Amino acid sequence: MNIEVVRDYYGKVLQTSSDLKTDACCTTAPMPDYLKAALSNIHDEVLAKYYGCGLVLPEALAGASVLDLGCGSGRDAYALAQMVGAAGNVVGVDMTDEQLSVAEQHVEWHRQRFGYAEANTRFVKGYIEKLGELGLPPESFDLVVSNCVVNLSPDKAAVLRGAYDLLKPGGEMYFADVYADRRLDEDIKNHPVLVGECLGGALYWNDFLETARSCGFLDPRLVSARTLEIHDPDLIEKLGAACFVSATYRLFKLSELDAGCENYGQTVIYRGGIPHHEDVFHLDAHHSFPRGEVVPVCGNTLRMLSDTRLKPYFELIGDFTRHYGIYPGCGTSNPFVTVQMQQAAAGDSSKPVPMSPCC
Ligand SMILES: C[S@@+](CC[C@H](N)C(=O)[O-])C[C@H]1O[C@@H](n2cnc3c(N)ncnc32)[C@H](O)[C@@H]1O
Repeated sequence: MNIEVVRDYYGKVLQTSSDLKTDACCTTAPMPDYLKAALSNIHDEVLAKYYGCGLVLPEALAGASVLDLGCGSGRDAYALAQMVGAAGNVVGVDMTDEQLSVAEQHVEWHRQRFGYAEANTRFVKGYIEKLGELGLPPESFDLVVSNCVVNLSPDKAAVLRGAYDLLKPGGEMYFADVYADRRLDEDIKNHPVLVGECLGGALYWNDFLETARSCGFLDPRLVSARTLEIHDPDLIEKLGAACFVSATYRLFKLSELDAGCENYGQTVIYRGGIPHHEDVFHLDAHHSFPRGEVVPVCGNTLRMLSDTRLKPYFELIGDFTRHYGIYPGCGTSNPFVTVQMQQAAAGDSSKPVPMSPCC
């Protein structure tokens, strides 16, 4: 994959989101009201150049330090800047001057709009494969986010390793990206429009999981997924049977996680208190915690709730002294199966099943 092709696509070819040829770099998920309210405080020029594919909305952000990889014109950075509040901060990184200059031009406008004494958002020019060269202190971020960018990188492992190094222990990478249901042919991987539209560089989802684990993120959790629809006849022909999803994963930096889900007889109770998630907290697509309910969990899930910023919101019962074997049913991290389950739950059999031609 050629990085100049990507820079040209986002700097010169695309002027606004209406220039996109597929819905890969669009967000069609329903937005919660608090995100709509945050977006109403964001400058129109920033919004016009939004090319994200999912909702990058981790919970419990007050006071957090957040790094946005491939921030583009800054929409997510400015939305998150409101959620972390004046005590938190957001740093956006991007390699494309045209995108970055839109983000940078509006720092002061947003500071005033948010009513902060000092701006809590700044932008840095750089490559996401070389995060170590940006002068950002190691282990200094609570969260690394990204929206439809990692697929564009020629070295995805370098991106994940760099993110891991910049996260505090217990921090997490929470990001939306595009994945394929198979390893793509070289002609798809090198097709400039398919690359620019975030399809050509998409990893086969199972290769992504393996890469994430090898970079230290031992138990990737799938938050949400949706299938992408391609309508352009030329692109459909080029892609053949390959199918794509936009998926959001959360990758915790927790060095003690087991390789699989193991049963130590632990349970947790959500106390409530996470803003906008008072009644139920969804850790991922397969773990929901209604307030006050005693919920059995595997050891890894317990660590995600106890060794991270989520700890104050949970009562944790049990420890790791006795092992009861494999934990049944922690759910899959395969986004295609998850989409299928969501469609079945919604009673929607009209859409094509994952793992078969669906574009
Ligand atoms: C699909 S756009 C998404 C932008 C932004 N996250 C959003 O949601 O609007 C991809 C962005 O990633 C940037 N990008 C792609 N590859 C990059 C790399 N290797 N290093 C830094 N930025 C990169 C592009 O310049 C572009 O702004």
